[in-house]
Amino acid sequence: MGTHLSGRTRICGIIGDPIEHTLSPRMHNAAFQSAGLDYIYVPFRVRREDLTLAIQGMRALHIRGLSVTIPHKVAVMSLLDEIDPLAQKIGAVNTVSNECGVLTGYNTDSTGFLRALEAEKIDLKGKNVCILGAGGAARAIAFSVADRGARLTILNRHPDSAEGLANRILKFFRQHVLALELNRENLKTALRGTDLLVNTTSVGMSPNFDETPVPLTLLNRKLIIFDIIYNPLKTRLLEGAEKRGARVISGLQMLVWQGAAAFELWTGAKAPMERMREATLKALRSSED
Ligand code: ATR
Repeated sequence: MGTHLSGRTRICGIIGDPIEHTLSPRMHNAAFQSAGLDYIYVPFRVRREDLTLAIQGMRALHIRGLSVTIPHKVAVMSLLDEIDPLAQKIGAVNTVSNECGVLTGYNTDSTGFLRALEAEKIDLKGKNVCILGAGGAARAIAFSVADRGARLTILNRHPDSAEGLANRILKFFRQHVLALELNRENLKTALRGTDLLVNTTSVGMSPNFDETPVPLTLLNRKLIIFDIIYNPLKTRLLEGAEKRGARVISGLQMLVWQGAAAFELWTGAKAPMERMREATLKALRSSED
């Protein structure tokens, strides 16, 4: 790694704090290498108060692209020149592309979610989608779902946040969304008509892999279950769903598809998906050791 660098190498990276545990450098460097591109991807720990300087640095250093993670996804927006319309509605940016000095912000969590579904040949139009959680990831996913013309129910531990997200969707898409408290009774009712259930809460994430946001007895084989958690790869929710004959999609899919979308914005080349998936899996496994 690093021996191929030249005066023409294009630089991409990720900004966030903390940044030590990111898998993105492994995923993107594997992709650049596999596609034979003279690019490199590096981690930058950027503190909250240094974000403006970091973006000025991106301009001055002609950094080609940045991934943006916690705590900068919202704050970075006011520092860019243009924002993709869907990212604008979502109110968060996780990817910046530098086109000859013009910085544009995108939300590839949204694209990643949609492409993961497309890869499974799932069309959202007219479907009933139930989202668990109302945080940043839920927002990107809820807007993508509304944009594709599906009906939406949002369940969250604190129902006020679910309501807030539902109101935002009403404002931008003129679409009514049911917002409910995440509890057994509401889940039971909501799941009756659901085609696709998406977990965006952190329930079931390592080290709490015994937990599930939905009692497994409420699952049935007609559901498609998408858990955006990728650590563990197979959450208790996905394991239980599979046992009941339901179709499942893991968080690794969304992680890799959102990376692929960023890769394509920065390079204009088609993302080498298999290589990216393989490298991310390997990085995940070595981070567990
Ligand atoms: P992200 O950006 O990954 O979406 P986030 O914005 O912190 O992260 O959102 C975390 C989500 O997980 C929230 O919907 C949170 O619910 P609250 O809004 O009620 O806090 C949900 N969550 C976290 N821990 C949870 C738990 N133990 N039970 C239920 N929901 C939980």
